[in-house]
Amino acid sequence: MSDTPQGQELSESELRPISRRDFLSLAATWAAATALGLALTALMKFPMPALFPDTSKLFKIGKPEDYPVGAEKVFEERKVVVKRDSEGLYAISLICTHLGCVVSQQAKGFDCPCHGSKFDALGRVKAGPAPKPLPWLKVSQLSDGRLLVDAMKQVPAGTKYMISH
Ligand code: FES
Repeated sequence: MSDTPQGQELSESELRPISRRDFLSLAATWAAATALGLALTALMKFPMPALFPDTSKLFKIGKPEDYPVGAEKVFEERKVVVKRDSEGLYAISLICTHLGCVVSQQAKGFDCPCHGSKFDALGRVKAGPAPKPLPWLKVSQLSDGRLLVDAMKQVPAGTKYMISH
C-alpha cells in the first residue's frame, strides 16, 4: 500500500518541467560517471606492472640435467626466463625496465605489452621506451647440485654459470 493517497492531484511545483540548467547539470554528471566507469574498466584490462613483486626472490630452478644446451624455461610466477647455451646457464628478468610490466617471450626476443618496448633474445633494447636492457640475474648451485636464481642480485649481461657435471 502506498503512502500517498490515490487520486490526489500533484502540486504545481511537482509538475514543473526540469529547467535547462538542471538538465545540463544532470547530463554532465551522468557523462562524468560513465567516463569514470569506462576508464576504470579499461584500467582493469591493462597489463599491470609488477609493483608488488614476490617476497621470495631466491628460488630453485632444478638440476643441471634439466637444462641441455639450447634449453629455455620460463618461470612465469617469478617473471624470469632461464636459458642454457654452450657457454653456460643464465637467467634474465622478464620485468620491463620502463615501468615494470611483464614482457612476453617472442620468437626472437621479448615484447612489452604496455608501451611497446622490444628486447632481443639477450634482453638488449631493440625499441624503446625502455631505458635499459632486461636485467640478468645471478645463477648459483647448491652443494646437492640443484641450481638457484637470485632475482635480487643482478649480474652483468653475458654472465653465464658454467655447469660442471
Ligand atoms: S613498461 Fe614496458 S614499455 Fe613501458
